[in-house]
Amino acid sequence: MPNLLALLNGNTSLAGFAAHLDAGFLSEAQARLAEALLSEDQPHLFTDWDSPGVRDEEKRAFLDTLLTAHQAYPGGLTGYIHNARTLLAQASSGANPFDGCTPTQPDLVDLSAFGADYDQAEALGLRCFADTAVVLVAGGLGERLGYHGIKLDIPVEVTESTSYLAHFTQVILAASRRLGRNIPLVIMTSRETNEGTRATLAANANFGLAPDQITILCQELVPALSDIDAHLALEGKYNLILKPHGHGDIHMLLHTSGTAEKFAAAGVRYLLFIQDTNGQVFNAAMAAIGVSESHGYDFNSIAVNRIPGEAVGGLAKLEKSGCQPFTLNVEYNQLDPLLRATVSPEGDVPDERGFSIFPGNVNLIVLRLAPYLRVLESSRGIIAEFVNPKFSDPARTKFKKPARLETMMQDLPKLFTSGEKTGVTVFDRTWCFSACKNNLTDAAAKVVQNGPAESASSAENDFYLAGRMKLRAAGAEVNDAPTRLIRGVPITPGPRVILRPSFALTLAEVRDQIQGGRISADATLVLDGDIRLENVNVDAGAALVVHAAPGASVTIKDATFSAKPTFEIQELTDAEIASPDVPEYLRIRGYRITNQGAKIFTITQPGKWIITPQGEVHSA
Ligand code: UTP
Repeated sequence: MPNLLALLNGNTSLAGFAAHLDAGFLSEAQARLAEALLSEDQPHLFTDWDSPGVRDEEKRAFLDTLLTAHQAYPGGLTGYIHNARTLLAQASSGANPFDGCTPTQPDLVDLSAFGADYDQAEALGLRCFADTAVVLVAGGLGERLGYHGIKLDIPVEVTESTSYLAHFTQVILAASRRLGRNIPLVIMTSRETNEGTRATLAANANFGLAPDQITILCQELVPALSDIDAHLALEGKYNLILKPHGHGDIHMLLHTSGTAEKFAAAGVRYLLFIQDTNGQVFNAAMAAIGVSESHGYDFNSIAVNRIPGEAVGGLAKLEKSGCQPFTLNVEYNQLDPLLRATVSPEGDVPDERGFSIFPGNVNLIVLRLAPYLRVLESSRGIIAEFVNPKFSDPARTKFKKPARLETMMQDLPKLFTSGEKTGVTVFDRTWCFSACKNNLTDAAAKVVQNGPAESASSAENDFYLAGRMKLRAAGAEVNDAPTRLIRGVPITPGPRVILRPSFALTLAEVRDQIQGGRISADATLVLDGDIRLENVNVDAGAALVVHAAPGASVTIKDATFSAKPTFEIQELTDAEIASPDVPEYLRIRGYRITNQGAKIFTITQPGKWIITPQGEVHSA
């Protein structure tokens, strides 16, 4: 290591570190990295080291951390520092990333109402789902929710307590069976979620998915930066400060792990990117994939109608002379000034329906794999990083606290240069998006300010609502219970309708399986498997819960289920909310749902079965 020795030579503050080289303390790779970092003006990382033998464990951990961060980033820490310097210089000069851009309405397909267009898109999308891989980003800390476990373990509903991961994998399993192809699932984890995610998969035998159907990619943290010169930030002598790099890491990992290429070789054509606690996504996903196919969209954002000024990013087509126009998420606080400075002196104004012409981004994306591979190749998977330092001096060179480079998965179109087609598919909001992000106290405060609660309870509420929307679309009569507040969050207590993916994957399938019928107030309906209902009523407070194993096909005809008591919502008391003896997944929603005596029909044997109006199960 002659270069390293030359860099250390004569520098007394580095003498302690140099002594470790002589003692053979560093591996070859660590020594090479130290040399690279010293060449990048990072001597503070190795300054005033204690003599060999003193605090050696801490030094080893420090060197390991540096090497891990180096190996995780394409181009290593040198590349990270170079990228940081460029982005920090831009941030310091106050450059506006949208300078010179003119926003216009993006190319969009409006599927916010059901109808023939919706059905066509869904039918096409279901066929294309056979060539799709699902990419679930689940590395987030969930700080706003404050749940002490991985978010994927949280039940999306507590009638039967199905976790988010169980729900997502149910869709993938049902579609794989239906389409005759094992649909791959990629899960991006992080240090905080990796172990928990693996444990959940192991404890549940991968929820029935084949082991080679699931790929786990763990994102690493990146070093924090202490100033405009991109010095890596330390906390004490041997402790590198690390921070999350953001969900855009998924692009880097799909590239560096070779997963994207492997999928292409296996015939995958689309990637569907989903989030960890949005239980609604698969209501809309098939139709969105269908739109990608019919409209040739390389990048298709699932979006919602938004009111001007609403705190949701707006999707806008940005045109800039000399550049290819692309559709991008513009944060709502940047969109209005951009509009005022360019095409609309009044800013973001409502159209005749009261909505902005820039639909709201919910970070659900359908991506065509072929152009994606090209972008990954040219960018090495580093997608449109940005840095957001809070400067502490007028010269904008020092930070209030360490910053870091970040990346967001929705920024991929910034790298499109070869005529890629970007578009937007607009869906009814609760149909496609209702996340569990906020703890109950914050959720209630948001409701007071007319914002979305985005709590475990509102997410569960919307999960049942989607079930009711499907029933209505099939022509059933659905009478909602009056809304009530539970701990400040509005809840419609029923009917609680869960139509499992094994029952139907599209609206057309729901229509095929359900004819007529009525369900009222706080009734419960759970249909899991091949089940057909003809003129079946479920009265207020009553329940019909049927689980039919694969191969079993069940018919229920001209029956009214009215027996009570069945499932009830019970609000938690203050003492229960505070009690560690009550499961946290209940405390974050403020209630439990208990079965006081509903009969559950579980049919385990293949064949044709009938459930009679008297509630008896017979072979057909
Ligand atoms: P969110 O911002 O909604 O979730 O991320 P979060 O980061 O977990 O929540 P807070 O901000 O700490 O309260 C949207 C999606 O991106 C994933 C999350 O897991 C979620 O699915 N994500 C976020 C990652 O996978 N990695 C990250 O570094 C950040």
